[in-house]
Amino acid sequence: MTAPIRVLIVEDREDDAELLLRELRRGGLDPVFARVDTAPAMRAALERKWDVVISDWSMPAFDAPAALKVVQEAGLDLPFLIVSGTVGEEVAVEAMRAGAHDFMAKGRFMRLIPAIERELREAAGRAERRRIEQQLRQAQKMEAMGQLTGGIAHDFNNLLGVIVANVDLLLDTVRGDRVLSELTTEILNSALHGADLTHRLLAFARQLPLSAQVVELNERLPRIVAILQRTLGEGIDIATVLGDGLWHTRVDPSQIEDALLNLAINARDAMPNGGTLTIETANVALDDSYAALHPEVVPGDYVMLAMTDTGSGMPADIAERAMEPFFTTKEPGKGTGLGLSMIYGFAKQSGGHLSIYSEVGIGTTVRLYLPRAPEESAGATAAPAKAAAPLPTGGESILLVDDNAALRRVTMRRLVGLGYRVSDAGDGPSALALIDSGRHFDLLLTDLGLPSGMTGYDLAEHARRRRPGLKVLFTTGYGHVREHGHGPARDSAPLIRKPYRSDELAGTVRAVLGLAQG
Ligand SMILES: Nc1ncnc2c1ncn2[C@@H]1O[C@H](COP(=O)(O)OP(=O)(O)OP(=O)(O)O)[C@@H](O)[C@H]1O
Ligand SMILES: [Mg+2]
Repeated sequence: MTAPIRVLIVEDREDDAELLLRELRRGGLDPVFARVDTAPAMRAALERKWDVVISDWSMPAFDAPAALKVVQEAGLDLPFLIVSGTVGEEVAVEAMRAGAHDFMAKGRFMRLIPAIERELREAAGRAERRRIEQQLRQAQKMEAMGQLTGGIAHDFNNLLGVIVANVDLLLDTVRGDRVLSELTTEILNSALHGADLTHRLLAFARQLPLSAQVVELNERLPRIVAILQRTLGEGIDIATVLGDGLWHTRVDPSQIEDALLNLAINARDAMPNGGTLTIETANVALDDSYAALHPEVVPGDYVMLAMTDTGSGMPADIAERAMEPFFTTKEPGKGTGLGLSMIYGFAKQSGGHLSIYSEVGIGTTVRLYLPRAPEESAGATAAPAKAAAPLPTGGESILLVDDNAALRRVTMRRLVGLGYRVSDAGDGPSALALIDSGRHFDLLLTDLGLPSGMTGYDLAEHARRRRPGLKVLFTTGYGHVREHGHGPARDSAPLIRKPYRSDELAGTVRAVLGLAQG
């Protein structure tokens, strides 16, 4: 058994280099080598990869300290061993201080092989530590970006909510006037586009309200694959490799669909001349050793969903940054750089993990790891029904609670427009006071994040205690990670995500109230 090793020999005498190589081969190594004896030649050689440098102490046009400097200037962490016929102790100590790893006398090579083996081991250890530190830094950077993004996106989401809601109302008023309708529609489309961007930013910041349910991914895939097939068109073949006995996982299925669609579009962009897209599912246990290499991973059982393309691939520096928000290599207008960021946030918020493996000219695999869910907890969280035209109306009494006054006003106007009787409050205590005043309400429609120390969840709990039959509909622009941790929502009542359109509001309110009549 011989071990391959790439040795850069700094030596002016060919016979000395030969001697060294013979020694390496005798020690069980299989050296690939180059010999240099000037600084320029060494610099050129360092363009290639080496495992170790073995340098003579002094040569006519070069010496070991100068060679060491060339390695250091190239920013390389390469084991550097010095051999010399004339090594004196002081010289050796000085060389070690400058960064050489070992020195030995020419012709007395019994320490050579053990020294090389030790240095290779230590260099591998250093590389590993550097890689982990780099990953940790990257994870911290993503965390910081997430917090920043989340704060901005949350505020924008509220602003856009007010704009969308008011423009929706305006649209009804100007119907019949072609010019005003067109202008208003322009505003609406821009606001909706902004809301879509904000939605992606919230996803990255792990603040998207998710409707998680226990699902078996294999059951969901055929439908999604059919959608992908239509989106990708001819030229791209889709193959699926579905794992047997796939574990269940707890996720928001609509986010899975979104994620796969985004990944497929990335794959298509990377395969302009066509290719193959492979979708794979499998059960995987990420163990302690995997977690040790990936500081952000919690060891455990995961369901893996992978998408592989045969496209252009990415160099390491791009793959490293691909998940950052707004990082894109596409032309302006072609990509926003939010696709992978969104999937990253979704994976994290679901308790999972996202990884990218890519090779230039070969292709890319993106793996989404989702935590395994206990099988027996299968069963869906009821999703609010979709609205149908014309807008469903009603005459019931609604208590509307939101701390954003502009949003409250416009929502109130929309609900009144649908025929409902509406009272409103800006926080939990004032809402409870209204209930305690004896007024009858059929539905409590409340934001989750409220001031005065009482969240929407708290309010619902107190309100139901006073009025057991009260229907509840939550709304939020937030995932409420901070207040409630990453776990499932505390309350199983339906939730409508801000900003919402008039038809969504009308349909959801009707559906929730409808539950009362059975
Ligand atoms: N499958 C892939 N193959 C090659 N490069 C990829 C692949 N997926 C992502 N990338 C690279 O990562 C970058 C970021 O991807 P991401 O999906 O986040 O944004 P985008 O596709 O540029 O824009 P958006 O998804 O918002 O429309 C891409 O611009 C591209 O350079
Ligand atoms: Mg993309």
